[in-house]
Amino acid sequence: TSPLRIAIAGLGTVGTGVVRMIQTHGELIAQRAGRPVEIVAVSARSKDKARDVDLSAYAWEDDAAALAQRADVDLVVEVIGGTSGPARDAVEQSLANGKHVVTANKALLAEGGHALAKAAEAAGVALRFEAAVAGGIPIVKALTEGLAGNQITRVMGVMNGTCNYILTTMEHTGAAYADVLADAQKLGYAEADPSFDVGGIDAAQKLAILSSIAFGTEVDFDGVKVEGIERVSLMDIEQAAEMGYRVKLLGVARMNGAALEQRMQPCLVPATSPIGQLESVTNMVVVEGDFIGQTVYQGPGAGEGPTASAILGDIIDVARGLMIPAFGQPATNLVKAERAETGLG
Ligand code: HSE
Repeated sequence: TSPLRIAIAGLGTVGTGVVRMIQTHGELIAQRAGRPVEIVAVSARSKDKARDVDLSAYAWEDDAAALAQRADVDLVVEVIGGTSGPARDAVEQSLANGKHVVTANKALLAEGGHALAKAAEAAGVALRFEAAVAGGIPIVKALTEGLAGNQITRVMGVMNGTCNYILTTMEHTGAAYADVLADAQKLGYAEADPSFDVGGIDAAQKLAILSSIAFGTEVDFDGVKVEGIERVSLMDIEQAAEMGYRVKLLGVARMNGAALEQRMQPCLVPATSPIGQLESVTNMVVVEGDFIGQTVYQGPGAGEGPTASAILGDIIDVARGLMIPAFGQPATNLVKAERAETGLG
């Protein structure tokens, strides 16, 4: 059988993780997919940067969009990040040229996911983004496949690993906010611009993507009421702990009549509750459906291994020939979200 030939745009924490996973698990991946998955070409901003993976067998492109032009590529993995420039060009041109796209780019999906899903459908290719939401947790697959027969009533949870790492590490060590954030950056958890993490934007983008799948609405990131953790102090965390609570950056999305309510904000949760017990970079997503009741998904929400794991899951699905619509149903079926009044600013 013919291999699925892939190109990787972006060789930061996530991109090198994808290379490492394919190099480590080549045989297992081929078995599961029923055909080999081969890296053909890669691209990144700097060719000379030291990376601890061997890239010598792959063609190099200086420009990510050039990967979309290659006749020997079936699928482009976009892990550059950001909504402008090379990431957007690589994704749009890949879809336009009939190449499948697997991306971790929640910002791009939160801003223009609906248009990208339409472009993918027009080209008859897959657009997959498990890695964009809650890192390694297969929550997009849970919603688009496993729970697809349910009317979803609520989606909530902790969706930013960096914030949970900061909040829990401050609590345990008493360390200063800035130092813990610097550690989260070193560990490869934080966004290139960490204000997206601590400002709640990254988590809000993820919530908006999950809402679209759960409620059949067009992604409405601007409709999310967002408050970050920048103003949460060590004293807040300690006082909460004394009363048996923990501070979590918590997102909730639900239908309020015909209107979609979405918010992401620091909340006090009982320390003994499942969300209250989340440590370090762990994420948790709770999904409620009318026939299933409540389901809970927990796992590492950021970092090289977990994010690469989500990307490989998507690549293997495409290699198998699975064509799941990006947001769980054809893009033309998604309705414009009406916004609910949340009572928040
Ligand atoms: N910066 C993100 C986080 C990465 O900390 O959750 C995973 O999306």
